[in-house]
Amino acid sequence: MNEKQRLESQQVQSPKNKEEKDYSKYFQTVYMPPSLKDARRRGKEDIKYHDDFDIDERFKEMGNGRKFYIRTYGCQMNEHDTEVMAGIFMGLGYQATETVEDADVILMNTCAIRENAENKVFGELGHLKHLKMEKPELLLGVCGCMAQQESVVNRILEKHPFVDMIFGTHNIHRLPEILHEAYMSKEMVVEVWSKEGDVIENLPKVRAGKIRAWVNIMYGCDKFCTYCIVPYTRGKERSRRPEDIIQEVRQLAAHGYQEITLLGQNVNAYGKDFDDIDYHFGDLMDDLRKINIPRIRFTTSHPRDFDDHLIEVLAHKGNLVEHIHLPVQSGSSAMLKIMGRKYTREQFLELVRKIKKAIPDVSLSTDIIVGFPNETDEQFEETMSLYREVGFETAYTFIYSAREGTPAAKMKDNVSMEVKKERLQRLNALVNDFSRKAMEAHKGQIVEVLVEGESKNNPEVLSGYTRKNKLVNFKGPKSAIGHLVQVKITEAKTWTLNGEMVDVQEAVEVI
Ligand code: 5AD
Ligand code: SF4
Repeated sequence: MNEKQRLESQQVQSPKNKEEKDYSKYFQTVYMPPSLKDARRRGKEDIKYHDDFDIDERFKEMGNGRKFYIRTYGCQMNEHDTEVMAGIFMGLGYQATETVEDADVILMNTCAIRENAENKVFGELGHLKHLKMEKPELLLGVCGCMAQQESVVNRILEKHPFVDMIFGTHNIHRLPEILHEAYMSKEMVVEVWSKEGDVIENLPKVRAGKIRAWVNIMYGCDKFCTYCIVPYTRGKERSRRPEDIIQEVRQLAAHGYQEITLLGQNVNAYGKDFDDIDYHFGDLMDDLRKINIPRIRFTTSHPRDFDDHLIEVLAHKGNLVEHIHLPVQSGSSAMLKIMGRKYTREQFLELVRKIKKAIPDVSLSTDIIVGFPNETDEQFEETMSLYREVGFETAYTFIYSAREGTPAAKMKDNVSMEVKKERLQRLNALVNDFSRKAMEAHKGQIVEVLVEGESKNNPEVLSGYTRKNKLVNFKGPKSAIGHLVQVKITEAKTWTLNGEMVDVQEAVEVI
C-alpha cells in the first residue's frame, strides 16, 4: 500500500465546527481526527514492515535558517520518539534549539497516561499562546499520546485554535508532509491515524546522549488493562524483526554506546505477532547478550508473559543487568481481576520466587496504582503486604486517574480523594523505607558505575548509575565520563549513593 492508499484507508470524520473552519478543501490530508472506535479494534491483518522512508526532495530545504524545539512529556517511548522527530527535522535542514523563544517550530510530545500529565500540556499551551501572538510565523504542534484522543483534539480545536498542527503517534514519519501542510494551509492540520499495523524501520534519529541509547523492540499493547489508555494511543502490538534490532544494537556498540534500554509497552509480548518464526523475548535477550556492549536493560515488562526461558537467559547476567522493573499495580487478586491484569497475587509471588531463585541478587522495582474504583482498605493493605513480601527496592506510585474511553472510567467509584491520597502517602512511606534499606546494603561495597557526567547538583562531582540503576555521586576525573568505573560506596541516602572511585588510574589509562 502506498502513502496515498494508506491515508485513504483511514476513516475520515467530518469536523464538528466545519462551518466556522472550512477544512473541506484539505479534507483527505489535513483533517483526520482520531477515532476511539478504530483505536479499540484489533484486526488480523499482517504487520507491514517499511524501510523506504526518505525525505522528499521538495522538502529538503524546508528547514534552512529555521530552528525546532521539542518538549517531551511522559515515558521513555516518547523520549525516543522525540529523537526520531529530531532526526527528521535535521534531515529537513532545521537546527535544534534549547530555548522556545528562538524556535520557529515548537512541538509538544505529550503523554495521556494520567489527567495531571494532560493538564500540564494544556497549561503550557496557554503560555505558548503569547509566544505565538508575538511571532505569528511560529508553528506550534501537539503530538504524542494526547493527540490520539478524540476529546483532546476537540478541546484543542475549540479552546486552542492557535495550534497549527496535531499529529498522532502513528504519523511521526509523516512529519515532513505535516509541516509542509501547516506552512501552506493557514488552517489547523490534524492528522491522527487511529488504527495502524505497520513498523517503519529506517527513520533517522538524533540520539540525546552518547553513552546510553533507547532501542524500540515493539510498539503498541494488546493487554487492555481496564484503566489504561495506552492500547488506544499506541495501537496494536507490533514487534520489530530480530535482525533489525540486533543490527541496531551492534551499530550502537560499534559507536561506543555502553548501555542499551530495550523499549516496549509490554516487552514480554515480543514476537507473539510473528507468524513465520517462533522467536520470543527470551530468544531476543539470548541473542543480544552475545553482543559486545556492557549493559542491556529493558522496560516495561508484564508479569503475565514473563516466561521461564526469559528467566533462564537473564540468569546468565553478563551484559544483562540484574534489575527488573515488574509492574504489579496491586497486591489484591480481586483488584487485579477488575484491573484486567490476568494474574493473581499468588501467581505474581510465584514469578518473583522463580526470578529470585535464578538471580539471587536481583533488584526488583514496580509500578503501583492506589485508589482504583472501589478499592477497600483491606485490598490496599494487601498491596502493602505484597510490597513487603517481595521487597521491591523502589516503585513508581500513582493515584488512579480515570481515562475517557477505558472500561474503568465507567466504573462507579466510592473511594474519596482524601482516602486515595492517604493511601498514596502510606505506600510512599513504605517505598522510601525499602529504598533506604536497599541503598544502605550498598555501604562498603564496590560497585560498577557507568559515568554519565557531572552531577546535576554539584559540578565538582561525577554521577552515574549502577547495574541495579542506583544513582551514585563520587569524585573523579572528567576523563571517566562515558566509562565504567569501580566506586566504593561510603554513604547511602534514600535515593542516591555517595562513594569514592577506586580505580582512577585504570580509568584514566583507558582514555
Ligand atoms: N491511572 C493511574 N496510573 C496509571 N498507570 C497507567 N494508567 C493509569 C491510570 N489510568 C500507571 C501504571 C503503569 C504506569 C506506566 O502508569 O502503574 O504501569
Ligand atoms: Fe497499559 Fe496494561 Fe498495556 Fe501496560 S500492559 S501499557 S498498563 S494496558
